[in-house]
Amino acid sequence: MRKRLTAALCLCLVATGLSAQPWFKDADLTLTGAYYYPEHWDESQWERDFKQMHELGFEFTHFAEFAWAQLEPEEGKYDFDWLDRAVALAAKYDLKVVMCTSTATPPVWLSRKYPEILIRQEDGTVLDHGARQHASFASPLYRELSYAMIAELAKHYGEDARVIGWQLDNEPAVQFDYNPAAEEGFRDFLRDKYNNDIKQLNDAWGTAFWSEAYTSFDEITLPKRAQMFMNHHQILDYRRFAAKQTNDFLDGQCMVIRKYAKNQWVTTNYIPNYDEGHIGGSHTLDFPSYTRYMVYGDNEGIGRRGYRVGNPLRIAFANDFFRPVQGTYGVMELQPGQVNWGDINPQPLPGAVRLWLWSVFAGGSDFICTYRYRQPLYGTEQYHYGIVGTDGVTVTPGGHEYARFMEEIKALRGNVGAREDKPAEYLARRTAILFNHENAWSIERQKQNNTWDTMGHVDKYYRTLKSFGAPVDIIDESKELAGYPVVIAPAYQLADAELVTRWKAYAEQGGNLVLTCRTAQKDRYGRLPEAPFGAMIADLTGDALDFYDLLLPDDPGKVTMDGKTYTWNTWGEILKPGEGVETWATYTDEFYEGQPAVTTRRLGKGTVTYVGVDSTDGALERDVLRKLYEKLAIPVMDLPYGVTMEYRNGMGIVLNYMDTPYTFRLPEGAKVLVGEATIPTAGVLVFAVK
Ligand code: GAL
Repeated sequence: MRKRLTAALCLCLVATGLSAQPWFKDADLTLTGAYYYPEHWDESQWERDFKQMHELGFEFTHFAEFAWAQLEPEEGKYDFDWLDRAVALAAKYDLKVVMCTSTATPPVWLSRKYPEILIRQEDGTVLDHGARQHASFASPLYRELSYAMIAELAKHYGEDARVIGWQLDNEPAVQFDYNPAAEEGFRDFLRDKYNNDIKQLNDAWGTAFWSEAYTSFDEITLPKRAQMFMNHHQILDYRRFAAKQTNDFLDGQCMVIRKYAKNQWVTTNYIPNYDEGHIGGSHTLDFPSYTRYMVYGDNEGIGRRGYRVGNPLRIAFANDFFRPVQGTYGVMELQPGQVNWGDINPQPLPGAVRLWLWSVFAGGSDFICTYRYRQPLYGTEQYHYGIVGTDGVTVTPGGHEYARFMEEIKALRGNVGAREDKPAEYLARRTAILFNHENAWSIERQKQNNTWDTMGHVDKYYRTLKSFGAPVDIIDESKELAGYPVVIAPAYQLADAELVTRWKAYAEQGGNLVLTCRTAQKDRYGRLPEAPFGAMIADLTGDALDFYDLLLPDDPGKVTMDGKTYTWNTWGEILKPGEGVETWATYTDEFYEGQPAVTTRRLGKGTVTYVGVDSTDGALERDVLRKLYEKLAIPVMDLPYGVTMEYRNGMGIVLNYMDTPYTFRLPEGAKVLVGEATIPTAGVLVFAVK
């Protein structure tokens, strides 16, 4: 009944380095779970709560996330009895358990006995007990104490079939920690990177400038990021080091668990801060998962009530970023209702919670968990909604939407295709966005125009691709490019000859490469090569870069393409195309009127398109991609902003974040499984493909 693209799919899996994972069953579609903190509630209520959790449709729960004080009440003395009882009761109601490592909340004995583990902020403030996330990942002592606790936990639960997996820490972030241990660690990191040769470091950091030279690694301190004009080459290395501290700590935790765990997966719950730089950097994890909050007072949605629904691409981008890391992903936290931490914390629009659940699912996830089952009665998050309210039993509106989603999923099980069962037309527009957080770090310190926004620039391409109904993978350089008909590298500032050679080979062998302004203008240390500006990719694009200009936002410049005019101000490169290079767009004002802004050329069996300008609203980016896909005969859709469509398991899933209903033209012979062709605001349509 469905077009099966096994060969194409295998190719794609090989190309993207993905493999089928052993943890989740395709036939289950997704598992859904909820956080529960047994230590917050009277034990007499646990059974009632697990029973209701099960009756609502949940299939797993999540324990021990912040419970170090209960797990190790005194140094070296462990108490897992209470947790054993909770695991047993959960199992009685068919709830599997995700176990956590609780390293985000060290107990008070630890912080008092070993205050050197506390984070020191850039201004000298030392964080203290009484909140969370105050311990330094760079502290060898903190790591040692954490690993000792984790080893006990893993010995205890590692072979327990009721425990399906592990979540490390909680939303582990990159810490800008000025703890002396971090400073020592930074020096070691640099010694290692620069072969213990201070001259190599001085060259890399350009310290001949402003008398910044070092004579020994011992003189190096953590860069004061708040200090104006601090050496940005040093900051680049510092950020690499800081991200590595988080990654190493997670890898360390994972390795301890692996020693004891059988058939349990290990992940962590990242906040999708894409330019933070650590996501995907802990290579021992089985897969990454993320947390996502959609309604917290900012109006990034569509229309007057858009703040109750959220940004239409917020979940989609996270899906497309996390899935390619290791081929599978889950969502560890998704809000069930109001949160407590926004500037304003409104109620989500009725239907929005279910819309987000389907949005996560549409991206190909294997599980979704909600933070949290019960609304807390005390502590920092008292105003945070749960699946049930403050009485512990009354199901909230969001709780009902979870129940509905789980019911819908269960009704589909056993009746759908394999995960990668997707129509040929959809796969034909598969596109990769090549992303490296270091580009954002580097540009951030030398923006040249403070209205420039690196992630906003990436988003202009991303939102166009989503309007095309294209499956998008946001990938890093470790991935193969060859399986993607189109690869876009937006504002890819830091590059080297090796990367440029890979790009060239990709195009020559039939790939279609799109590079955009600011790309390959610096080396990996953030230095300008001693060559004409932008020359690293001149052979590839066929353009010389004459010069670049930056305009004031209230007096933007203009670019024209195929009779249409677009505005820009953040960054514009004036190109000098060589032979065989076609100009697509030109500047229409200033002293460079008539000069090229966008070019394209054939290279071997493929093409290279260069977009030298960042338009104000993404309209130029959209039309450039539209022109390119048309030229390549790649069939694209034209979905309005706010509507997205994906395929998985032989099903099409259409999501409506708009403030008006949207009527979707169902493919011929499609059978509606959930919803209807006219999708209301916050509504969902699911159909089986013929
Ligand atoms: C998340 C965090 C959870 C909880 C939640 C509240 O960022 O991981 O532990 O605090 O926010 O919305």
